[in-house]
Amino acid sequence: MSVLVTGGAGYIGSHVARLLTESGTKVIVVDDLSTGIESRVSGLTSYRIDLAEPSAVAALEALMREHSVDSVIHLAALKRVGDSVENPEKYFNKNLGGQANLLLAMKSAGVKKLVFSSSAAAYGIPDVDLVSEEEAASPINPYGQTKLIGEWMAANAETAWGLRHVNLRYFNAAGAGWDDLADTQVLNLIPIVFEAINNKSKPKVYGSDYNTPDGSCIRDYVHVLDLAQAHIKALDYLEQDKREFNTFNVGTGFGSSVIEVLEQIRETTAINFEYEVVERRAGDPARLIANASRIEKIMGWKAKNSLVEIIDSAWKALS
Ligand SMILES: NC(=O)c1ccc[n+]([C@@H]2O[C@H](COP(=O)([O-])OP(=O)(O)OC[C@H]3O[C@@H](n4cnc5c(N)ncnc54)[C@H](O)[C@@H]3O)[C@@H](O)[C@H]2O)c1
Repeated sequence: MSVLVTGGAGYIGSHVARLLTESGTKVIVVDDLSTGIESRVSGLTSYRIDLAEPSAVAALEALMREHSVDSVIHLAALKRVGDSVENPEKYFNKNLGGQANLLLAMKSAGVKKLVFSSSAAAYGIPDVDLVSEEEAASPINPYGQTKLIGEWMAANAETAWGLRHVNLRYFNAAGAGWDDLADTQVLNLIPIVFEAINNKSKPKVYGSDYNTPDGSCIRDYVHVLDLAQAHIKALDYLEQDKREFNTFNVGTGFGSSVIEVLEQIRETTAINFEYEVVERRAGDPARLIANASRIEKIMGWKAKNSLVEIIDSAWKALS
């Protein structure tokens, strides 16, 4: 028995793959290395396959049979929101085409358990303090749409051929569980600030006039190791015959503002950098914080690490 981790050479996928391996589970990684890093999966059985290529279906089916794959954790996707607005067809091709190929292969190989990496981006701009899974999903960009449609694809496979699936809607993943698995893409707030510190430039705060205590946007930061742990809980949950829910938020239930994150980074790094307040960006909700009670109640998962540990681990991994 083994678990196939797609996108296992990526930032989150490599944490999931290592945590599973350390718990004694055999892991098979599939990744096209478009943003993934090969050294993150050294020592693991891995295949370089683009899930969106038509040839992927047969290749995936063959490796699922060869390694007696029992479950799939599907993280492989493109995730740059701005890029998805400029190149929507690329996101539909890679994210949805890739997922369709994966489901075809799973169906043919008789693999019936799937944990899907969804995103808080599926919600769009919800007008609530804490977003629960009951909130209407209304994504505002092609990236978020691919996540919501990915959930629908899994639901349809459940109806049609008995796929068991869990959608994990991640909030803001950050930090590092191991120093060699840091988030090296400079897309999210903490890596952006670290890069600015290294370049001796001022990080930007997009808007300080939101309806929040300090005027900057508030997000829910979840430590990547806690996030990885949620996948193990989700695999356990899929073993249950009676499952009340398919979709779970993975967040802490606590929000930190951009300015609070900057202040914590100043404290952790002991570098008193300055920042620059600029205009708001389109499509940024003032606050996006998970109601994380469902995953705690149903799966017994709760984030253990706070923002301090997230920033400490990220800084240590990059220094
Ligand atoms: N980082 C976050 O805060 C966050 C939040 C919500 C959801 N997610 C989702 O989590 C997943 C992992 O994100 P990440 O932050 O680790 O990003 P990442 O870019 O580090 O990882 C994605 C991995 O998938 C691989 N990949 C992409 N397209 C592929 C394809 N067609 N075939 C095979 N491999 C492919 C990449 O090479 C990479 O290794 C993604 O599905 C992303 O949408 C991430």
